[in-house]
Amino acid sequence: MNADDPLIPEERDEYETDLIAFSNRELDLLGDVRGCDVLYAGGISPLWIEGLAERIGENGSLIVLDKDEDGLARAEAAFAPDDLPLRPRFVVGNVFDLPFERGTFDLVYSSGLFHELDVSEKSAMEALSAMASVLRSGGRFATSDFVDDAGAVQIEAEVIEAEMERRVFGAKRHGIGSSERLVELHERSLSDVRHRASPPFPIRHLDKLLPSEDEPPEFSLLSDEDARRLRARWRAILDRVRREGYTRPATVYIEGGTKSPRI
Ligand SMILES: C[S@@+](CC[C@H](N)C(=O)[O-])C[C@H]1O[C@@H](n2cnc3c(N)ncnc32)[C@H](O)[C@@H]1O
Repeated sequence: MNADDPLIPEERDEYETDLIAFSNRELDLLGDVRGCDVLYAGGISPLWIEGLAERIGENGSLIVLDKDEDGLARAEAAFAPDDLPLRPRFVVGNVFDLPFERGTFDLVYSSGLFHELDVSEKSAMEALSAMASVLRSGGRFATSDFVDDAGAVQIEAEVIEAEMERRVFGAKRHGIGSSERLVELHERSLSDVRHRASPPFPIRHLDKLLPSEDEPPEFSLLSDEDARRLRARWRAILDRVRREGYTRPATVYIEGGTKSPRI
């Protein structure tokens, strides 16, 4: 037992069980990916990476790409190859400028990438087009992400984080918007787009974890005035979590194929 853990062991087990169930719910929407060459774009969670490796199996391949070099190194170190049919390749990179040839993948998948995308210099549409360009003809582009179709404490927390990133780094997050906005984005570059909305997936004991965490480190980089204002909003969120629990956003899963080039 870890003395610093705000959860007792039974709670930790329940929390992890729910995280696995959530990633399984989203990954199952991909359907059959056995034997596919897959790019997982923007993600470092071992749970998702291992879930993909299990589904792809020994006859396919998996590249995990993220711009967070340290996070990616931690994910690679945590990867448990003994239980899994394939070893992914971990690549540091940016989805706006991918280090792959055209036509490399059968599937490009992201989960939770779009709402965190910094669109201050290039648009979400440009990111989507760059990712779709490395698909083979007949390949599939699939996205799962949070949407604001149902209100959630997590959305408010993410708005504050986005505001901090804007003030400290000049970044502009694409953010959590409606499922229509994300579907429309896919329809502009892909063919045969279909989507499926899913309700918020409750994760037990998240309400105990957030208040026990340190405040986001970016607070210390803000001006005094901004730090005062955003800290007050952060404390209001923690109060809300204590009163109502930690509510999570709904998700949408979207997939489509590459549009055939105009002749
Ligand atoms: C919400 S997290 C993804 C959660 C996901 N389920 C996982 O497996 O970690 C978003 C991830 O996208 C990455 N990311 C954001 N913008 C990116 C970009 N332009 N290029 C590559 N990775 C990016 C972040 O570093 C972060 O790891």
